Amino acid sequence: MHRRDFVALGAAAVAGAPRLRAPRRVERNALWRPPELAPTDLVLRANAHAIHSGPGTTGTAMTLGDGPIGPTLRMRTGDTATIRLQNDLAESTILHWHGLRVPEVADGHPRLAIAPGAHYDYRFEVIDRAGTYWYHAHPHHRTGEQVYRGMTGLLLVEDAAERALELPSGPREIAVLVADRRVDGTGEFVYDPVGHERMEGTFGNVAFANGTRDAVVDVDTALHRLRVVNVTAARITRLALSNGAAMTLIGVDGGLLPAPVRVDHVDLATGERADLLVDFSSVPVGETVTLRSIAFTPPYQRGMGMGGMRGGEAGAQGAALDLLAFRVARAVREKPWVARPFPTIAPIDPSTAVTTREFNFVSRMMSHSINGREFDPDRMDVTVKHGTTELWRFINPSMFPHPVHLHEAQFQVLSRTGGRAQLFPWERGWKDTVLVYPEETVDVIVHFDAHRGRYLMHCHNLVHEDMGMMWNYEIA
Ligand code: C2O
Ligand code: CU
Ligand code: CU
Repeated sequence: MHRRDFVALGAAAVAGAPRLRAPRRVERNALWRPPELAPTDLVLRANAHAIHSGPGTTGTAMTLGDGPIGPTLRMRTGDTATIRLQNDLAESTILHWHGLRVPEVADGHPRLAIAPGAHYDYRFEVIDRAGTYWYHAHPHHRTGEQVYRGMTGLLLVEDAAERALELPSGPREIAVLVADRRVDGTGEFVYDPVGHERMEGTFGNVAFANGTRDAVVDVDTALHRLRVVNVTAARITRLALSNGAAMTLIGVDGGLLPAPVRVDHVDLATGERADLLVDFSSVPVGETVTLRSIAFTPPYQRGMGMGGMRGGEAGAQGAALDLLAFRVARAVREKPWVARPFPTIAPIDPSTAVTTREFNFVSRMMSHSINGREFDPDRMDVTVKHGTTELWRFINPSMFPHPVHLHEAQFQVLSRTGGRAQLFPWERGWKDTVLVYPEETVDVIVHFDAHRGRYLMHCHNLVHEDMGMMWNYEIA
């Protein structure tokens, strides 16, 4: 099922590699394009099966359906989703629709997890605007490994306002879940956070796009829409193109930005999304351009003596990783896409906040907590009043980054003080996950106006989340 061919990459493709190193030959596999399904009367069967993990090897995936990740659910605002999760895994699981505001019973709280052999019926109305959302497993203590093995899928919501923009679509819309995995000598995927990885999180040295190792996709000499979701356990990806070309960022977690913005890179932490326009019109046919996570030194490694030791090490946080290759396969001539005004986003007035709450994301002595308390599925940590607006302040006094995620809300990021001390173009618009580096305080404003019920707020570093950096909150 995988089409394979070989692309020679120069030494420059390997971060910090000595110039004299012989070109590395990389096996490239055709990007898996998951089937696109409507969300009605759908059965998603969770199961374990072998997938391609390298030349002549397979690794054990856990996915929905038969592919290396789950099918893509294409929805329209206003749709009613009726989805059955059938658990054919040998362990408990439950699914969460990351970014969508759904009733409590459909939100995938870990206490709703179902045993092997059981099923769970979801029914919810899609009330959110067009955007790049995703779904993934969410059982307590097991989210990390299940997501790592592929219990994930794309959830693409469309609406009239977005359709009016006539963005590139069909084969020119490429949506990818990007993951990093460690592949052992037999080809098996290793998820085993021990020692330091229990603090920093776990990293892989091999990229998987939609579950495809070292993926390549054919493109035209034209504008393409590239929708990227970071589904790694802990890696912050700094997305950029190998030819140095700028990209146009059009959307983030909760849909379109108020206006497109030119960027040369986008930082995405676990759970975050970027909706980009990438122009291959001046790339000669036959050439390959690669979407990569370019090397950077994570601020928390400076001064720890780790920059030299780990920063350049394959697989470490901040190391370069090629995510997806685009092979320019076909020359086309057509009139260029013309930007029309994007739907406006009304800013939430911070002075309407009825309260300010502070959350400290604390990582110390092999534990991760919020304000000193680890997750207890049965304890209610915060109660907010339905229909009100609050200011939530995320504070990171630890040595590790924390991508903070809220269920049942799209918020606006107001400010970042300390650390990087600024907001970035990819933090405008509606967000459900925001990256908080050590020494940073990030303020977000959130209006609790959809459903009432019990939801979650947590760090989306999957190791931190599984170890208890998660709280319940109730919209009452
Ligand atoms: Cu993708 Cu509870 O999260
Ligand atoms: Cu979520
Ligand atoms: Cu964290």
